[in-house]
Amino acid sequence: MHIKTAAIATGAALGLSGGMAAAAELNLICSADVVICEKLVTEFEAGHSDINVNMVRLSSGEAYAKVRAEGRNPQTDLWWGGTGDPHLQAAHDGLTAEYRSELLPELQDWAVEQAETSEYRTVGVYSGALGWGYNTEILAEKGIEGPACWEDLLDPALKGEIQIADPNSSGTAYTTLATLVQLMGEDEAFEFLKQMNENVAQYTKSGSAPVKAAARGETGLGIVFMHDAVSQSVEGFPIQVMAPCEGTGYEVGSMSIIEGAQNPDEAKIFYDWVLTAEAQNLMPEAGSFQLPSNKSATASEHVPDLSEVKLIDYDFAEYGSADRRKELLARWDAEIGGQAAQ
Ligand code: F6P
Repeated sequence: MHIKTAAIATGAALGLSGGMAAAAELNLICSADVVICEKLVTEFEAGHSDINVNMVRLSSGEAYAKVRAEGRNPQTDLWWGGTGDPHLQAAHDGLTAEYRSELLPELQDWAVEQAETSEYRTVGVYSGALGWGYNTEILAEKGIEGPACWEDLLDPALKGEIQIADPNSSGTAYTTLATLVQLMGEDEAFEFLKQMNENVAQYTKSGSAPVKAAARGETGLGIVFMHDAVSQSVEGFPIQVMAPCEGTGYEVGSMSIIEGAQNPDEAKIFYDWVLTAEAQNLMPEAGSFQLPSNKSATASEHVPDLSEVKLIDYDFAEYGSADRRKELLARWDAEIGGQAAQ
């Protein structure tokens, strides 16, 4: 009894003298695939044993809603990944802090442009184009030719075979909505979505869930970022990756420090680390095949070649603006979400 008390007293004394200082904390929202989220945290903690990272994985729209709800009493320090539009909206709302990393000169122009658009309240961390992945076995069994164009997704033969996420929670689905509006015009895009709704079996919360369901044989086709479809085919599932023939949009996956964060110094340490080529090279190891934003990072052979994809001139400033995003989501809720078979 006496010895035990003494041991505790010695431990406490060590703590007080600074020999065992408590680890600093970093509260992180990660909006990319959970496997890369966990890998980044593990590798970061291995190199920064004095910082303990508390990570939560949320889809882009959910992450924006959390940051907004926390408002003036932020519990989150840093938001890594997820599509750029809600990061731009958060920047516009003053929810994220200005930060000019010294790594900026190492980044691709599109990543720096994202920083400039937001007055340095966000920055590009990766990019990838929108498309879909279909299960070749399911479509072959049903005698359906693999859809190559947006228009093909209206084929009645695909009834019940399409999954896509809900644009309120998912950045992937919001990118789809904004892409169709830019490709077709707003009224025409909503008409298209109403018709496609006939074929949609489910609107999921997370953007990549539809192609994971297609890989498991639960649905025929998932509208997702092409790199998420690639992840499934690389794992050996019978998934064909497609870029729509009419053209398609793309994301600049982003990162933002939260305004008024409780741990701003730790947020900046992670921010600078995750922009390095070394950290970005971890992505393919975790089965994530976006284009990295650091010019010296090695793009995996599986990263879709965007020069072969017909990309639209996606207007990030307009579709990431608070008013436009709110307006499009409200219209989607009224005209599509309300009618959807959930
Ligand atoms: O799975 C990875 C990924 O597609 C990222 O490239 C993208 O930023 C994010 O997921 C979008 O996820 P969600 O649609 O769930 O917001």
